[in-house]
Amino acid sequence: MESATIGETTQPARRDGPNGHDATQPQDLPPSSGRRRFLRFLLGFSAASTLGMIVAPVVGFLVPPKTQGGGGGRVVAGTLQDIPANTGKVVAMGGAPVIVSNTEAGVKAFSAVCTHLGCIVDFDETVRHIVCPCHDGHFNPASGAVLSGPPPAPLAPVALAIEGDEIVLIPSGS
Ligand code: FES
Repeated sequence: MESATIGETTQPARRDGPNGHDATQPQDLPPSSGRRRFLRFLLGFSAASTLGMIVAPVVGFLVPPKTQGGGGGRVVAGTLQDIPANTGKVVAMGGAPVIVSNTEAGVKAFSAVCTHLGCIVDFDETVRHIVCPCHDGHFNPASGAVLSGPPPAPLAPVALAIEGDEIVLIPSGS
C-alpha cells in the first residue's frame, strides 16, 4: 500500500501546453462562447434577410410579369376589362416588356423600355401618363411621344389587335 510522503501532493503534475495553459486540464471555453455564436448567427441571418429584401423587389421590377402566349408569338395582353380606360399595364412579349394603355384614342402599346437609360416605364393613373420612375420621364400614352424629362426619343410602338374583348400584341415581322 502506498502512502503519501511529506511534501508530495495527490494531484498530477502540471504540464504547460501552448499559450501557457495547463495541458492536462480541459480547455475552458469562455462562458459567453454560446452567446457569441448565437449573436453571430443572428447577425448573419439579419444580413441575409436584409439583402433578400433589397434584391427581391429589384428583380421583381426588372423582370416583367408573365403573360400567356410568350415566346415571340402573338401575346394576349389581357382583356378590355383588365385594362379599363385611362389605365395601363406592363406585360411581357417574348422577353421584352411592353406597356399597354387604354387611352381616349384607343388601346395602344409601346416598348416599356425607357429611351433614356433603359428603365422599365409604367402607367401613372394620377397624371394619365406613361412615366419612367428612374428620372421622371413622361410619355404620352396615346402616341409614346416624350412629354417631359430626359428621354431623347419616343417609346417604340408595338402593333396590336382587339379580338373580341382580348388585346393581342403582334410582334414585328408577324
Ligand atoms: S431612364 Fe427613364 S428617364 Fe432616365
